[in-house]
Amino acid sequence: MELLFYSLAGIIVIVVIAVSRKSIVAGMEARSDIKRENKPSDTEEGIEDITNENIEKTNEQVKIINQIDDLILIVDKFKNIKFFNSSAKKKFGENNLNKHVATLLRVPDLLQNIDLVLLKKETITMDLELSSPSFQFFKVHLFSGPTSYVNDPDSVVLFLKDLTDIIKAQRFKSDFVANVSHELKTPLVSIKGFLETISGHAKDDLEAQKKFIPIMLEQADRMESLIKDLLSLSRIELEEHIQPQDKVNLKEILSNVEDIHQKNLKSFEFKNNVKDDFFIKGDHEKLIEVFSNIIDNSIKYSEKNKKIEVNCGQGNGKVIGDSYTVSIKDNGIGIPTEQLPRITERFFRVDAAKSKKVGGTGLGMAIVKHIVNQHRGDLEIKSETQRGTEIKVHFSKF
Ligand SMILES: Nc1ncnc2c1ncn2[C@@H]1O[C@H](COP(=O)(O)OP(=O)(O)OP(=O)(O)O)[C@@H](O)[C@H]1O
Ligand SMILES: [Mg+2]
Repeated sequence: MELLFYSLAGIIVIVVIAVSRKSIVAGMEARSDIKRENKPSDTEEGIEDITNENIEKTNEQVKIINQIDDLILIVDKFKNIKFFNSSAKKKFGENNLNKHVATLLRVPDLLQNIDLVLLKKETITMDLELSSPSFQFFKVHLFSGPTSYVNDPDSVVLFLKDLTDIIKAQRFKSDFVANVSHELKTPLVSIKGFLETISGHAKDDLEAQKKFIPIMLEQADRMESLIKDLLSLSRIELEEHIQPQDKVNLKEILSNVEDIHQKNLKSFEFKNNVKDDFFIKGDHEKLIEVFSNIIDNSIKYSEKNKKIEVNCGQGNGKVIGDSYTVSIKDNGIGIPTEQLPRITERFFRVDAAKSKKVGGTGLGMAIVKHIVNQHRGDLEIKSETQRGTEIKVHFSKF
């Protein structure tokens, strides 16, 4: 639907350019006796070879073309750039006039298509995917000049519709569905396999049943917690724009979280140093989910008897106004520096096999990030492999 909308919008802008192209062709035909100045005017926008009569009209059109988000480049038959609008300038930088288009877009198919348009004077539409410096996706329409911007019949207009966000969202959606299906399929396949065994050749084998039933329960638990996390994530995403307004006490929340994990924390040197009241604007239950996930990670990714410490004090994060900061610090296995930016991605695990063994699906920190965002807070993750991890969460004071 969105793609269709953007394609239609693209077509409308192309029609505008094409109309101005037609008018210039008509103008040329009608005023073939007008002597043109061959010297390029080379104004800031890169307009050249325009008659005085057309300058005003063209400047108006340039104004319009500079307001649109789509990128417009016009190249001559040598593929040197003769015109670019503001959006193209923003994307590729200031000083690209007269440079070869390949210095900005080194894409063989695009260069070939420019040649084809020059030769056949036909309109060509192509997809353009760039991976460097980051993923970008454009729908490119190429058509032949002259236009009121570059009055050269041997020029080619490159109209680039930036669809990066839409394509990214589409790919994210399909990756997400693939990830969810995979995560659910694995325990389901194992439950099915065990059920077939104990209802088939091991029907009367009590020993086998004793062995397999707990494994099936464990796998069913895994599926249940995955579904719970997914539902929680989608609920939080829906509500992300509504900042919770209750007056909540971080001391109480952290003490509740300690109680929840009491059993597992017994095997660690756990210290909750939060003894004072720290009031913030928030949602009690959701904040329990935040700190529960963070403590759960410290437990899962630390060896037994290691230190896990919780502190709270005056804040210094990127939040508006006075703030408090909660810090949860462990001496666990840590996270490699290059993986740190990915920790809050859904389904991301540093070591998938290890996480799976401790029951992780890679959704915990994604949930944390969304809840902290909803609270207009700030999340900071510092970690060093084999030394430990410190997660700081900053919140505005109540
Ligand atoms: N305190 C930590 N120490 C070491 N690694 C961590 C820590 N916290 C998170 N990680 C790494 O980040 C990954 C993502 O964490 P996240 O909490 O999102 O997922 P998970 O713990 O694998 O699964 P889930 O929380 O959904 O049960 C983990 O798999 C782990 O590799
Ligand atoms: Mg986790």
